[in-house]
Amino acid sequence: MALQHIDTDTPWWQLGVVYQIYPRSFMDSNGDGIGDLAGVEQRLDHLVDLGVDALWLSPFYTSPMKDFGYDVADYCDVDPMFGTLDDARSLITSAHSKGLRVIVDFVPNHTSDQHPWFIESRSSRSNPKRDWFFWRDGTAQPPNNWLSHFGGIAWTWDPSTEQWYLHSFLKEQPDLNWRNPEVRAAMMDVIRFWLDQGVDGFRLDVAHYIAKDPQLRDNPWLAEGERNAGHRDSGEFSRMVHVNTHSHMDIHDWYAELRQVMDTHHVAERGVTARYSVGEIHLFDWEEWAKFYGTGPGTGLTMPFNFSLMKTGWNAPAIRAAIESCEAAVPAWGWPNWVLGNHDESRVATRFGSEAAARAAMVLLLTLRGTPTLYYGDELGLIDTPISADQMQDPWGINVQGLGLGRDPERTPMPWDSTANAGFCPVGVTPWLPIGDLSVNVEAQHHDPESFYALTRSLLALRRSRAALTVGSWLAVDAHDDSVVAFERHASGESTIVVAVRVGGAAGVVSLGEGLGTVVLRSSSIHSSDTVDLASVELRGNTAVVIERR
Ligand code: NOJ
Ligand code: CA
Repeated sequence: MALQHIDTDTPWWQLGVVYQIYPRSFMDSNGDGIGDLAGVEQRLDHLVDLGVDALWLSPFYTSPMKDFGYDVADYCDVDPMFGTLDDARSLITSAHSKGLRVIVDFVPNHTSDQHPWFIESRSSRSNPKRDWFFWRDGTAQPPNNWLSHFGGIAWTWDPSTEQWYLHSFLKEQPDLNWRNPEVRAAMMDVIRFWLDQGVDGFRLDVAHYIAKDPQLRDNPWLAEGERNAGHRDSGEFSRMVHVNTHSHMDIHDWYAELRQVMDTHHVAERGVTARYSVGEIHLFDWEEWAKFYGTGPGTGLTMPFNFSLMKTGWNAPAIRAAIESCEAAVPAWGWPNWVLGNHDESRVATRFGSEAAARAAMVLLLTLRGTPTLYYGDELGLIDTPISADQMQDPWGINVQGLGLGRDPERTPMPWDSTANAGFCPVGVTPWLPIGDLSVNVEAQHHDPESFYALTRSLLALRRSRAALTVGSWLAVDAHDDSVVAFERHASGESTIVVAVRVGGAAGVVSLGEGLGTVVLRSSSIHSSDTVDLASVELRGNTAVVIERR
């Protein structure tokens, strides 16, 4: 299965599908109500059965858990809550033995305030690590007008050394100063450490944040009534243009260096074919976004995450525009990628309003040109789990009460079966977040040939069996219908695959070209093999069809 292409020259990440695991919520192996690494290892066969190629683990490092692991106190160890370094090694080895690659989270922008580097840095103005973080003078006023993502200003006053320090997120997440070469060297050592443990790549947390304006100048404001596109916050933060906080052009040299380390470190000894680096980059200017691919092969990240489909809504013109813009923006040496959900966004089935829409969207995610990243539970069509105020865990939701920004609803435990705690943790234990509708679970969907799981699994099998759907070219098809997104995928020596998705809308007939085709899959009824005339294909509202041209 997964490693079938290992001997070809095409890197695995170009052919493969990545599955994101939020370790707290996947599987609890020791009955404390919190998922852990040994739990993930126990459930690896689910990924094999589903047919994905790699897993990405959100952070499991030593952490006070103020931001559930995105506040790292030791980059090179495992938090006891998640297990031990040996558990991490064991998971990596097991995953590899099952043909799965392992990608770990790397959090370059900030540490925890409990990281020894910050503790040292904070201890005195003359400490050798003082400049590893951002310390600035200021009297009653902070050094500039920057705001924290999680509410309030981005600076905290340290009374003992009488300076402010910068934190783009929580005050317990101080920003590292990547302009200091010692910081860059230390972070490259972290990369080497995890490569030595056998990981195949990294997902870089808020990757664009590491390079700020060298003078830390104020950010401009949008005009009254205007809002930043693409930001979940509806408060003051979304009225600020964060130009000086991130994406300074120096960043590209630092990622070129990181890429160099990844492409060379113990590559020959380990027989490595390709390593993967994907940056979490919330930039919606395609030109700026594409710069993270570097200036030529091997000079940038493997790819910046493409979050455009998380911002379009379930809207056909916006989706078509996102796909066309991405196809136009990715440089010749780059490769696109697509994301519909993650641990920071409302679940797809909730965002797009229905299971039917989420099924059609899954067809889109798995047939577009580029590497898809699939969030755990989206293969079941999970919806957001309602979280009451007293159940809330996410610091963002807690800090910015009332704005609905908490991310707990999309982070609830994976439902494995219909028993009281869904097979996630033992019955009688309270899971860290409530579990959603128990009738939606892996076991039940396994037995249902038309389930969401069956659809995702069939799509993944189809992808693996057709070069057209992996390395094939992409071409827009004009279906002459505003509510339809349609395109063709083609690889030489294979029949062309035509995909059409009706986004909302009412049932109707669409034109997808000329000649006859065989329906390989419909989002609403998976096992079909009808013959259709491409000039008039029946397409119901919120459904998708995949057709093989004859
Ligand atoms: C982005 C991560 O995806 C999110 O979960 C986290 O809170 C912030 N970065 C801060 O690290
Ligand atoms: Ca546990």
